[in-house]
Amino acid sequence: MRQVELRPAPRWIPGEVVFEVHSRAHGPVGEVAYMQLDRASGSAEVGIVIFERFRGMGYGEAALRALLDHLFQSVGLRRVWLRVLPANRPALRCYRKCGFRVVREVRWPLLGILRYLVMELRQEDFQSQKEEVAGEEGQEVSDMAESAGTVHP
Ligand SMILES: CC(C)(COP(=O)(O)OP(=O)(O)OC[C@H]1O[C@@H](n2cnc3c(N)ncnc32)[C@H](O)[C@@H]1OP(=O)(O)O)[C@@H](O)C(=O)NCCC(=O)NCCS
Repeated sequence: MRQVELRPAPRWIPGEVVFEVHSRAHGPVGEVAYMQLDRASGSAEVGIVIFERFRGMGYGEAALRALLDHLFQSVGLRRVWLRVLPANRPALRCYRKCGFRVVREVRWPLLGILRYLVMELRQEDFQSQKEEVAGEEGQEVSDMAESAGTVHP
């Protein structure tokens, strides 16, 4: 997975905490943010944008995972949610890969037309997904070591 670093953005939006997404290879590649922080329920909404020329290179997933790590581990949230348009395929794919699930469909009153989807991710689900990925990566490393004839204690 891509390595990114989140740095506080040098601007202030009321009610939002914004981070620039930095990559060693390309510098600033986008922004992530959280808002609607609710300490009582331990939840917040998140948002993401990767600058157009850097899309489809894995930065969206890496940046979102870095934000989720921060929110679940440092801020201490239990649930993160977001809104997404049903036609936004790249975003849906990116969110599903990070473990988000659709929990609600919001429709226009009277018309009944789908307006947006609400997706959420719980801390325990993110954690267990991370452990699974780490286990798979560990297995790959030991398979590679074995096929290279190297034995690690
Ligand atoms: C949504 C967004 C953040 C995704 O970031 P990204 O860096 O392009 O995504 P990644 O490269 O990490 O890709 C994540 C997954 O989405 C898939 N994906 C990326 N672009 C895609 C596209 N145009 N169509 C279909 N799938 C796409 C990738 O293939 C990858 O899945 P895979 O590993 O199974 O192949 C980015 O496209 C973006 O900033 N869009 C404009 C702003 C926006 O829509 N924000 C979200 C609002 S809810």
